[in-house]
Amino acid sequence: MKVTIFGTGYVGLVTGACLAEMGNHVVCVDIDAGKVERLRNGEIPIYEPGLEPIVKRNHASGQLDFTIEPAPAIAHGQVVFIAVGTPPDEDGSADLKYVLGVARTIGAHMDRYTVVVNKSTVPVGTADRVREAIASELAKRGVSVEFDVVSNPEFLKEGDAVEDCLRPDRIIIGSSSDRAIGVLRKLYAPFNRNHDRTVVMDERSAELTKYAANAMLATKISFMNEIANIAERVGADVELVRQGIGSDPRIGYHFIYPGAGYGGSCFPKDVQALERTARGVGYDARLLGAVESVNHDQKTKLFELISRHFDGQLAGKTIALWGLAFKPNTDDMREASSRNLMEALWAAGAKVRAFDPEARHETHRIYGDRGDLVLCEGAYQALDGADVLAIVTEWKAFRSPDFVRIRSLLAEPAVFDGRNLYDPAAVEEAGLAYYGIGRGRSL
Ligand code: UGA
Repeated sequence: MKVTIFGTGYVGLVTGACLAEMGNHVVCVDIDAGKVERLRNGEIPIYEPGLEPIVKRNHASGQLDFTIEPAPAIAHGQVVFIAVGTPPDEDGSADLKYVLGVARTIGAHMDRYTVVVNKSTVPVGTADRVREAIASELAKRGVSVEFDVVSNPEFLKEGDAVEDCLRPDRIIIGSSSDRAIGVLRKLYAPFNRNHDRTVVMDERSAELTKYAANAMLATKISFMNEIANIAERVGADVELVRQGIGSDPRIGYHFIYPGAGYGGSCFPKDVQALERTARGVGYDARLLGAVESVNHDQKTKLFELISRHFDGQLAGKTIALWGLAFKPNTDDMREASSRNLMEALWAAGAKVRAFDPEARHETHRIYGDRGDLVLCEGAYQALDGADVLAIVTEWKAFRSPDFVRIRSLLAEPAVFDGRNLYDPAAVEEAGLAYYGIGRGRSL
């Protein structure tokens, strides 16, 4: 099929590459000419395992192209995806200016039946607004062209994006048009080989499904962080509690890892946006507010532990940081807990020596050159001249370090394990003080 995708961010680029991989002819449109040029030269703007080869291969074979020209791209696509950003505006609601801008562009150029698909995470009711925006542009042109707007949210995880896209758990098609549903069923047929993963529903339910999924996952995390905060006050180890409850299949082991708080471009934004949506229709979503507020506090947790260790005297101290990205296998620093920690340490007069396998450039792009931040090329290099070590992101490379070597490099032998990666006894055996999240002895 011929497919057009507006937006070459995470969702747009991965979706475009995967649809091309399945044999479709895909044109990706972006307003950033530099980015389009780099993509055409095979440069991938994000670190995402497995993405580069499929982008390069499909671009070379002509299945995938990039352009800044909307008109020919709209003429190309039988299906046109909207996968542009929905950043939070001042009050936390999703800002739809990019989505509606693309909708107007589609209306301004479309001249045959087109299925317009909302792939961006958008508030309930956006399909209607996209439909109106397209219709009003068509009316301005005085033409009558049939089209359908479908809500087809994306559920990919950064770091596993290609895999999630090629082998989705479910494909949500939100539409009441049989014609559009038929087109999308055909497009997604190759993703459905072994069993049909398609769930068809109305647009609004599809839009809410996306928020409900992210809000449920964020709730699990905040719930577990809350249990961790109770555990450390009552002298229990939340890691044992986690294993104890995860064994119940109704609860499950996924997304119950306590830590330094959730980050990324989705959970913080989507929980807030859903709360605002609820408020907008007269419902006070108390649980969502609590999920957000627990996470907000959790992001200061590591700083509090470090500060307490030094009796609040952080000026002149150097903290080694392992992990900067909001989670492993990405270079994404959006809402990363490392940022809260570094900024609090700097405000208290401490210095940071940080290592992350992928996010060093992104960190430098955000913070620039500054005297209180050294971005190191290796994990142990970050320990050189540092007082203590804090782990913020659970990259595999940090899972079984040489504690004796850590002990020999640190001036103050203490490890602040923001992701509960280590066995406290093993750390202490090497002569290091251990601080974890919700592990009895942290307070
Ligand atoms: C999330 C969802 O998992 C995807 O299903 C969804 O499609 C995506 O948002 C989106 O809306 O686009 P992502 O933001 O890439 O994906 O990252 P996650 O793997 O969900 O992690 C989010 C945060 O939660 C990370 O900071 C992670 O460290 C934290 N987390 C995760 C925990 O603190 N504990 C856990 O048990 C799991």
